[in-house]
Amino acid sequence: LLLLFTMIIVAYLIGSISSAILVCKFVGLPDPRTAGSKNPGATNVLRMSNKLTAATVLFLDVLKGTIPVWGAYFLAMEPLYLGFIGVAACLGHMYPIFFNFQGGKAVATALGTLLPIGFTLGGLLILTWLLVVKVSKYSSLAAIITVSMAPWYVYLLKPLYVYPTIMLSGLIILRHRDNIKRLLKGTESKINHKI
Ligand code: G3P
Repeated sequence: LLLLFTMIIVAYLIGSISSAILVCKFVGLPDPRTAGSKNPGATNVLRMSNKLTAATVLFLDVLKGTIPVWGAYFLAMEPLYLGFIGVAACLGHMYPIFFNFQGGKAVATALGTLLPIGFTLGGLLILTWLLVVKVSKYSSLAAIITVSMAPWYVYLLKPLYVYPTIMLSGLIILRHRDNIKRLLKGTESKINHKI
């Protein structure tokens, strides 16, 4: 239990390192919390700059999820505990202790936490996201649909991880409340780049 507690804290701290804010600072862009959708994530960095910068943010945010969950997996922790650790990494990303608790929506980080389950799952999730973005041009809608599909994919591939995945998906959907309102009103901003 002490190990679980320690891992949860470590995951939260790793999650709290906002790649978007740090990468923007590094390349001389404004704080992503002050521009575009004001969300410190890869989508908003893409709005503010270019694909390479956004891809860097995406990659680092994915790693924040993968590292703690993979670590815990190698420590032979059980699926529900891995779920708690994944959720902790996402909560760190959403409410980062190092950045005034103003974080992002943890889509990339959640993907990172699910990757250790397997590459088939990772591939399915990425394909789902890309497909929805291709058709709709909405990153948020793609995220919402992808995390809604995630528990079904996991159920088919590794049923042991269904409950942790449901937890994670619920959290991500809740965090997209404002995006959902904007989507319903038709005011959500689209991705104009070719992905
Ligand atoms: O990855 C976050 C995405 O789902 C929405 O981001 O900036 O359009 O609110 P944003």
